[in-house]
Amino acid sequence: MKALVYNGPKDVSVNEVPDAKIEKATDVLVEITTTNICGSDLHMYEGRTDVEKGKVLGHENLGKVIEVGDAVDSINKGDYVCLPFNVACGFCENCERGLTGFCLTTNPPNAGAAYGFAGMGPYSGGQADYLRVPYADFNCLKLPEDVSEKENDYVMLSDIFPTGWHATRLAKLCPGDSVVIYGAGPVGLMAAISASVQGASKIMVVDQHPDRLKLAKELGAIPIDQKKGDPADQILELTEGKGTDCGCEAVGYQCTNTKGEEVPNLTMNWLVKSVKATGNIGVVGVFVAKDPKAEDKLAKKGELAFDFGNFWFKGQKIRTGQANVKAYNRKLRELIHVGKAKPSAIISHQLDLSEAPNAYKNFDDRKNGWTKVVLKPAAAGQSKRKAASAR
Ligand SMILES: NC(=O)c1ccc[n+]([C@@H]2O[C@H](COP(=O)([O-])OP(=O)(O)OC[C@H]3O[C@@H](n4cnc5c(N)ncnc54)[C@H](O)[C@@H]3O)[C@@H](O)[C@H]2O)c1
Ligand SMILES: [Zn+2]
Ligand SMILES: [Zn+2]
Repeated sequence: MKALVYNGPKDVSVNEVPDAKIEKATDVLVEITTTNICGSDLHMYEGRTDVEKGKVLGHENLGKVIEVGDAVDSINKGDYVCLPFNVACGFCENCERGLTGFCLTTNPPNAGAAYGFAGMGPYSGGQADYLRVPYADFNCLKLPEDVSEKENDYVMLSDIFPTGWHATRLAKLCPGDSVVIYGAGPVGLMAAISASVQGASKIMVVDQHPDRLKLAKELGAIPIDQKKGDPADQILELTEGKGTDCGCEAVGYQCTNTKGEEVPNLTMNWLVKSVKATGNIGVVGVFVAKDPKAEDKLAKKGELAFDFGNFWFKGQKIRTGQANVKAYNRKLRELIHVGKAKPSAIISHQLDLSEAPNAYKNFDDRKNGWTKVVLKPAAAGQSKRKAASAR
């Protein structure tokens, strides 16, 4: 099969690799019809993780089930399913509590596994023709018939929509609250949609890319341009000096200043400054335990110069971590189904898998207009098959 393979920093290619196949009776095999490039892929693409060469990337996957393991009960051939990026078992003590991002079975001795991801287990990614899905009864989210029209919405249930939602839940957003979201990438924009659905009174989204800020505005948020001065000061001005009720971090350890230089503590300290005393902060942007290639001395060890004194005096709370996609994806699917949420609004490019290497480059450069890329591996496969059957 064809798959997008990591060869080294800023070097990915679409190669012929061994076909994904059923390995355990609890697996299904999915023909991928839509798979996205994510900001999380960029940490790997830039060589800032220890992901192994040859790894197939891709953790935002949707497709059609083409083969079913003998021990799978609820999933059938022909079902369209969206796969949470977390690979979870459903029976460990964390999965039992809904904390599927911290499954203890799928990547021991660590908590949490994912497809095509550094440090998250041996699972191959779905930027490929086919994907093996372990514990399929638990991990597959079946999609309704309107998948034929809403595939680009439903694919966002694999990661960014639940992750944006998770950010607002970690931040304990309540109806009527004001919220600041750092990052107008796909995850920050999904947090804005989530805050809006949950009845936030004022949503402010910080970034410095005009195309992304424009999208934030179209989604009903107030865009805050980092280039126009300290964003925390801008937020304080918009909240009568009090700060917002809660805040979300959707950037992560590679956050930058206006010169494009990485300053790893920037968003966390801005959050402390721009959220009110006693406010809650939800951090879904990825921070890592070590980052040897960072310029910053502390960041090399996974540490931050965090403004703990102000944080303590303000009595704020922080919650962090990978999203537990399964805690949200079923209900968010319903919001898409009835037309109350349209996460595909942020898609800028829909491409064939063969175009993925170029898409990685443009998305990584945060090139104007490249906000979210969806790839369609099966489209090429289908036309190939059609051509073959015509011959
Ligand atoms: N916790 C989870 O489960 C989970 C899931 C998916 C993605 N993520 C992480 O979420 C983060 C965002 O993902 P994405 O796909 O939106 O990525 P992205 O890289 O496309 O977007 C990040 C955005 O943040 C902006 N930014 C950079 N520095 C900033 C700063 N100082 N202040 C404000 N904005 C700044 C960038 O301009 C960019 O638009 C990444 O770290 C990703 O790995 C986490
Ligand atoms: Zn993702
Ligand atoms: Zn588990």
